[in-house]
Amino acid sequence: MKPPRKLHIKSYGCQMNVYDAQRMVDTLAGDGFVETSSADDADLVILNTCHIREKASEKVYSELGRLRVAKDAAAKDGRDMRIAVAGCVAQAEGDEIIRRAPVVDVVVGPQSYHHLPLLLERAAQGGKAIETEFPAEDKFGFLPQPKSDAIRARGISAFVTVQEGCDKFCTFCVVPYTRGAEVSRPVEKIVDDVKRLADNGVRELTLIGQNVNAYHGEGPDGRAWPLGKLLHRLAEIGGIARLRYSTSHPSDVDDSLIEAHRDLPALMPFVHLPVQSGSDRILAAMNRKHTASDYRKVIERFRRVRQDIAFSSDFIVGFPGETEQEFSATLALVTQIGYAAAYSFKYSPRPGTPAAEMRETVSAADMDERLVRLQELIDSQQSAFNKAAIGTTVDVLFERTARNPGQIVGRTAYLQPAHVMASPDIIGQVLPVRLDSLERYSLLGALATVPTARPQRIAPSQPTIGA
Ligand code: 5AD
Ligand code: SF4
Repeated sequence: MKPPRKLHIKSYGCQMNVYDAQRMVDTLAGDGFVETSSADDADLVILNTCHIREKASEKVYSELGRLRVAKDAAAKDGRDMRIAVAGCVAQAEGDEIIRRAPVVDVVVGPQSYHHLPLLLERAAQGGKAIETEFPAEDKFGFLPQPKSDAIRARGISAFVTVQEGCDKFCTFCVVPYTRGAEVSRPVEKIVDDVKRLADNGVRELTLIGQNVNAYHGEGPDGRAWPLGKLLHRLAEIGGIARLRYSTSHPSDVDDSLIEAHRDLPALMPFVHLPVQSGSDRILAAMNRKHTASDYRKVIERFRRVRQDIAFSSDFIVGFPGETEQEFSATLALVTQIGYAAAYSFKYSPRPGTPAAEMRETVSAADMDERLVRLQELIDSQQSAFNKAAIGTTVDVLFERTARNPGQIVGRTAYLQPAHVMASPDIIGQVLPVRLDSLERYSLLGALATVPTARPQRIAPSQPTIGA
């Protein structure tokens, strides 16, 4: 029997890349590949790349430089190391990658990675293999199901892609070009995947999609189901204790989603709802299709049905032509909403996007300064939100043993890590925990037998949340 071949896969960027990497592992397991944690002893290294900002994209080339050395060292040992670039840089740059980094054997876009075995075979015959078309067939029809032990090894929390691509065309964003047009998977296919995950110990699901609440997959009744209806269906599957979804567009929040938050205790009251900017002029230039006031109204709709709901968001500072006053509108919006967490980025022009052609730029110094101010505000809100949890008793879903001996770590509804001293038997269970203190971003507490209470809602228009 041939010894197993070793596969090392490194993912950059979003949750969907993490999911795609797992599906690549499942696909290649059929070809006798087993995962290894180090690139140096691998027979195949896959970089699953991100193109969203220049920094993310450039990381690929520095990693490829390191891999060239590893490949040479392997060759000296008589081993043939193959290198593949997958993901959104592969889609955007195609054969340009091989021109810049001849060490690469295979380039494969995010819609074609089910062809990896074939592409590797082609590369083994001495050539380079590139596939960045959007194939007519749907990759999900070809990807093998993960094996039971692979699901168990990945833990109790899993991602499931329900929707892919985006038709929104925000002027700064490469996603509609790299991930393609918006496509939703049929309900029954998702239900089958989730049942299999639940049968193998998964307790928490995060439904993922570039614009997940644009979901409109075909239901068993032949009609297009919205995300809220899909969530209702998945909540019925035994074993699934928690449901989440990411990432949503404010304009696609419909009544079905609001009702799901009202009706489903399993649907966690923590929503990632990117707004990008608080200025209406910038939002229009970004082609976001909503104003700051529309966004506030969407937040209010969620809050009306679930008072303990908390939000996170994404922000871009220094979009072309953003004035100090327009940036202040972003700070004002953050102050008014009160976030539990948020990500903020300096605008990065991406080739092929309309914003990259805009001539009014913001200086690097202004961008730096704005980013610091925004992050300080967000940090203060996050820290107030976390501090407000101290002294409360909340449900925690336990995930794994912690680094400190005897400690088990889980997450609250708001994804805050919570540590308790307990037996590993509690992994996979949702149990009430009395939260006693906060160390950086982690809460420390003890298992409680008292009934659960939820942290208070964040009061809008208060910069210090929940305090
Ligand atoms: N520059 C900076 N940030 C960007 N994002 C997307 N494109 C860009 C860009 N060109 C941010 C947005 C998005 C998040 C995933 O990345 O905030 O919501
Ligand atoms: Fe990109 Fe999101 Fe806008 Fe789609 S909605 S173009 S993924 S920022």
